[in-house]
Amino acid sequence: MRLILGITGASGVIYGTRLLEFLKREKVEVETHLVISEMGKQIIELELEQRLEDVIGLASFFYENTDLTAPIASGSFHIDATIIVPCSMKTVASVANGISENLIARAADISLKEKRKLVIVPRETPLSEIHLKNLLKVARAGGTVIPASPAFYHEPERLEDLADFIVGKVLEAIGIEHNLYRRWG
Ligand SMILES: Cc1cc2nc3c(=O)[nH]c(=O)nc-3n(C[C@H](O)[C@H](O)[C@H](O)COP(=O)(O)O)c2cc1C
Repeated sequence: MRLILGITGASGVIYGTRLLEFLKREKVEVETHLVISEMGKQIIELELEQRLEDVIGLASFFYENTDLTAPIASGSFHIDATIIVPCSMKTVASVANGISENLIARAADISLKEKRKLVIVPRETPLSEIHLKNLLKVARAGGTVIPASPAFYHEPERLEDLADFIVGKVLEAIGIEHNLYRRWG
């Protein structure tokens, strides 16, 4: 399986890094193509103890968000799914309106046009009418919207347990098995 993972400048970059860590730890046979926006890089420094280089080291390939000549900027480069986690409202707006101004938005645009899986994990609160309309557009175009709103019924003890609930939901959306949280029932 080949995945594109975009980390943008919304709070909750831990969701993206926990996903990369899961894939590496569990030795899931997946090739990861990582892109981190400039604000994503800043928020990694702000919210995580990990260094940016360590996060990049978790992926198979890394590209700058400005690199629109990267292989993943073309629809002829086959990928199975594109995941944007966390996804800022600015990037949601780009995806919803087909504005491929950077590599993350372009990768999402390709996923939609090629009818491949696109999963976004938006994070903002409260949501304006514009945010909601853009999220609806992405959902109607075929994207899966998984809000960064973890549940509490699995009795999380650590911050990582909360993050792993969302990571689990993302993995389910792209068909990768996991035991990251105790399922209801
Ligand atoms: C500390 C910090 C936290 C932010 N959190 C969010 C957020 O949760 N959601 C959001 O939509 N934007 C958030 N922003 C604003 C985005 O970073 C900003 O809109 C940026 O242009 C997003 O660009 P990108 O999508 O290319 O990363 C945050 C900014 C800062 C500095």
